[in-house]
Amino acid sequence: MSQRKQTLGEFIIENQASFKYTSGELSRLINSIRLAAKVVNHEVNKAGLVDILGAVGDTNIQGEDQQKLDVYANEKFIQTMTKRNIVCGIASEEEDDFIAINSQDENHQNKYVVLIDPLDGSSNIDVNVSVGTIFSIYRRVTPVGTPVTIEDFLQKGNQQVAAGYVVYGTSTMIVYTTGDGVNGFTLNPAIGTFYLSHPNMQFPENGRIYSVNEGNYIHFPKGIKDYIKYCQMEEGDRPYTSRYIGSLVSDFHRNMIKGGIYMYPKSSTASNGKLRLLYECNPMAFLAEQANGKASDGFERIMDIQPTELHQRVPFICGSKNMVEKAEEFMRNAE
Ligand code: AHG
Ligand code: MN
Ligand code: MN
Repeated sequence: MSQRKQTLGEFIIENQASFKYTSGELSRLINSIRLAAKVVNHEVNKAGLVDILGAVGDTNIQGEDQQKLDVYANEKFIQTMTKRNIVCGIASEEEDDFIAINSQDENHQNKYVVLIDPLDGSSNIDVNVSVGTIFSIYRRVTPVGTPVTIEDFLQKGNQQVAAGYVVYGTSTMIVYTTGDGVNGFTLNPAIGTFYLSHPNMQFPENGRIYSVNEGNYIHFPKGIKDYIKYCQMEEGDRPYTSRYIGSLVSDFHRNMIKGGIYMYPKSSTASNGKLRLLYECNPMAFLAEQANGKASDGFERIMDIQPTELHQRVPFICGSKNMVEKAEEFMRNAE
């Protein structure tokens, strides 16, 4: 008889002790993300029904207009994390500035800050293609008892205590790390429970998939153009396969399972690329490294970059170790 799979709830409790701060707050925080993920998943799943349900008065009890899903996801994640006494501040791709949680934390006792991209790949919603949520968790650096400040958010990625994503795909998964490997949990929608389906996820060291928006090729730096040509060359196990969904979460998830590289380089029209260091690149870099992969801006380790502003963008190359190192070699040689 096959062994019953562990649920995410059981996994969180059982692994609490392996985390260096064992007060249980981080576990409760991940639990709140699990809950918000289920709520957002429910909404994402009926995205195509919004107009139909709205027409029969099934939604909008308060008479409000149906919100865009990225705004909805933003509110759900913020609401869920605000209610528990763990988080002192949240920064989101959808908010201009960080949110200080004063209402529930008057004496500033909460120790964690969370940074999120509530809905990643949002342009894919209208066409029924997978989207995601990305989260990144740090301990505050300012003293407990004082208000949270921008300093608490502008920490290097190498200070993250946990990071992960939810992928709302053909099935819905939560994949996360607390610095002790990467584990993936799949939602059984019939009973609303996540089960450990992908223990100890690892990027294959080599891969055969490259993911980049090649429509921007003409604007890419020489090193990236040269690497793309290398991927397309007939030699050894090449040419590689090109796969680009346009949802970082989904492209990353596929590449981690199959082996591959994701690139969003700088270009002549966007000097730092598009992706955000704090909400997208750092959490994905932490996951990549925990899964034996690599993440760099072409020259430097993503997690060693000192952030200077909340919405900072950075070129991003991430995936199977040997592929990222090859791309870096092309970048160096093109200097
Ligand atoms: P978001 O929906 O959070 O703004 O992020 C979209 C990001 C990323 O998920 C994706 O890989 C990339 O933008 C796609 O950008 P292009 O359409 O420029 O390729
Ligand atoms: Mn995004
Ligand atoms: Mn987004």
